[in-house]
Formats: sequence, C-alpha cells, structure tokens
Amino acid sequence: MRRRWIGGAIAAVVIIVVGIAIYQRRSGGFEPEILPLPEGLPGYEAMKIPPDNPMTPEKVALGRQLFFDKRLSADESRSCYDCHLNEKGLSDGLPTAVGALGKRLPRNSPTLWNIGYHHEFYWDGRAPTLERQIFAAWTGGNMSANPEEIAAKLNRIEGYRRQFRKVFGTDATPDAIVKALAAYTRTIIGGKTAWDRWRAGDENAISEEAKRGWEVFQRIGCTNCHDGLLFTDLQYHNVGIGMDKPNPDLGRYNVTKQDKDRGAFKTPTLRDVARSGPYFHDGSVATLEEAVDIMLAGGKPNPWLDRANLKPAQITPEERRALLAFLRSLTEEGELKAPRLPQR
Ligand code: HEC
Ligand code: HEC
Repeated sequence: MRRRWIGGAIAAVVIIVVGIAIYQRRSGGFEPEILPLPEGLPGYEAMKIPPDNPMTPEKVALGRQLFFDKRLSADESRSCYDCHLNEKGLSDGLPTAVGALGKRLPRNSPTLWNIGYHHEFYWDGRAPTLERQIFAAWTGGNMSANPEEIAAKLNRIEGYRRQFRKVFGTDATPDAIVKALAAYTRTIIGGKTAWDRWRAGDENAISEEAKRGWEVFQRIGCTNCHDGLLFTDLQYHNVGIGMDKPNPDLGRYNVTKQDKDRGAFKTPTLRDVARSGPYFHDGSVATLEEAVDIMLAGGKPNPWLDRANLKPAQITPEERRALLAFLRSLTEEGELKAPRLPQR
C-alpha cells in the first residue's frame, strides 16, 4: 500500500518536471513582464489611439522588449532605446545621431516624453502617425533594418513568437512589430517633475527662484510656443537655428513647400530639457544657458524668423537665473525601465 503511494507520488513529480521542461522549451523559458497601462498626463486631454492599434498590456509589454532589443537593427548594434536614453532626457547626448552601420544622421535625437499626444512626428512633422514614423526609423538610417529579415529572426525566438501569436494572432510581421513599438511608445508619458508636483499643490516642491522663473517664462512669451502641459504648441516656427549655414536644413518647408515654413521646426517640449542637450534640431548648442540666451535674444535673424511670436526679451541676470532654475524643475523623475528579453 505504502509502496504504491510512493510510486504514485514519484510518477506525479516526474510528470510535473517533464511538463515544465516541455513548456519552457516551447516558450523559450520566457515570461514577459506585463504591467498595467499607465495613466495619461494628468490634466491633459485623452490620447488619441488609432482604432487599428488598440492598447493592451500584453502588446505594450511586447513593444517594450522590442524597443530595448538591439537585434532589431541591421548590425544588432542599436535598439530604439540607444538613441533615447533615460540619463540623456530620452535623447542621446550627441549633436546629431549616429545610426546602425555607423550611419551619420542629419538631426538631433529628440526627447520622447508625451510623444503619443503629438499629431505629427519628427522635427519637421513629415510622419503623420507614430506607426509611420517608427517604420521609417526602423528601416531607415537609424536602424537600417530589413523588416522581413528581422521578422523572420524574431520568429526563430520562441519567446517572441509566442507573444506575437498571443497579441496579434500571427507570427511576427513587420506590421505587428511596428504596431507593438508604437503602443509602447504611447506609454512614454511624462508629468512626474518637481514643477508638476508644485502645480498640484506641494508648495515646497520647487524653490522660490524656480517659481519666479515660471513667471518670467510666461511674461516674456516663451509660452507663445512652449505652451501648456506639453510645453509645445505642436506647431512649426523658424527661430533661426542653422539658417546661416551654406545649405541650411529647411525643416518644415521640405514637407509643405510653403515659403513661410523655411527653416521652421516643431517646437520641442521643454520637459527634461536640462538633461537632453546638445540642443536644437542640429545639436549646434552645447549648453542650456546658451540655448536660452539665443531664445532671449529673439532667435537668430533671417528672413523667415517668427518675429510675431518670438521677441527679444530684456531681463535682469536674476531673472535669467530664475528662468534656468524653472527649466531645471522640468526634469522628469520617471524612467523607461529595461525589460528582460527573450533569448531563444
Ligand atoms: C540612431 C539613433 C536613433 C535610433 C536607433 C532611433 N531613433 Fe528615434 N529619433 C532619432 C532622431 C535623430 C530623430 C529625429 C529625426 C528627424 O526629426 O528627422 C528621432 C525621432 C523619433 C521620434 C519622433 C519624435 C518627434 O518629436 O516627433 C520618435 C517617436 C522616435 N524617434 C522613436 C523611435 C523608436 C520607436 C525607435 C526604434 C524603432 C527609434 N526612435 C530609434 C534617433 C534615433
Ligand atoms: C516662436 C516660438 C518660440 C518661442 C516664443 C520660444 N521658443 Fe524655444 N524653441 C522654439 C523652436 C521652434 C525650437 C527648436 C528650434 C530648432 O531646433 O531649430 C525651440 C528650442 C528651444 C530650446 C532647445 C530645446 C531642445 O530640446 O533642443 C530651448 C531651451 C528653448 N527653446 C527655450 C525657450 C525659452 C526659454 C523661450 C522664452 C525666452 C523660448 N524658447 C521661446 C520655439 C519657440
């Protein structure tokens, strides 16, 4: 009787162990970390999500792995994250970015905070959706990926293939890869700064100096363009950066071919600006002080300068220091968290 009982127990253990081994083999031994979807930016309108790419926690978890995975680039040298780093304010610390295969790119990596609330993407707004922008970044100079080859590579990694099946009902395809990346990118929501805490009622969250700087920022019209909780009006303005070069980057003009858009670029958010230098679309300015001084001077003279919105501001050295203290209070305290990646 007792022998039978022991025999049964041993058989059960063996079945469980073999079951786990088979399961691990089939799943690549990988369990994704699935987190709840984040709250939106407090006090801001709801994010518009394209009907053909709804947000789900599983899709975002998959997109987060892809965002951090260097295997998405042609030479496996770069993930999306490598040019949008936490410690660099979701930029990369370079004047202009360097893509996979050592490719030099013409523009500065922008921060990604609250990017899901934008209507158009890139410095010149040439991409009408985040999905189109991401496809371009992935297959263009940033990562030089051949989409079909990368999809096939991901399908050889069981931990990925299972997730694509679960989320999209198919193996990995270029379209599904882009959709998952876009879903994750929409969760990159800022709003955890000392300034936000102060606005929410914590009087001690920022210094008196930073509070005076916020007053100065509004009084001298920085908010004409760096407006609202996003600190951008999502519009294009010429402030004169790079217009003195022999062949200036004409920015928005390349998209619209309208004369007024010559040298105009999308107003960047100022969230995390203290960490996201070098500054401007061409990364031509190394320090925040210098960037602010250019704006205080009313931009750089050229025939298309937006003089209606950007006027030279006469402020005292104390006010300038206060303005900088305010900008430093916009440093984001949240961060993109690297996930574990499926290896087989
Ligand atoms: C080699 C560095 C590099 C890599 C890798 C890279 N990016 Fe970027 N990213 C940039 C640069 C540079 C720009 C701006 C280009 C321009 O405006 O012409 C940009 C722009 C963006 C924008 C638009 C921001 C805005 O303000 O409109 C998003 C979103 C973005 N990247 C997400 C991603 C995602 C997702 C990936 C991975 C698929 C990725 N990036 C990979 C450098 C990089
Ligand atoms: C006419 C609209 C406008 C006004 C007004 C304006 N800015 Fe800007 N700002 C921009 C645009 C557009 C850029 C990007 C220009 C480029 O890269 O070519 C920019 C860039 C910046 C940058 C660099 C950010 C980065 O990530 O590279 C800082 C800092 C900045 N502005 C601060 C200010 C301050 C401070 C004021 C008020 C004195 C101000 N701006 C007024 C439109 C404006």
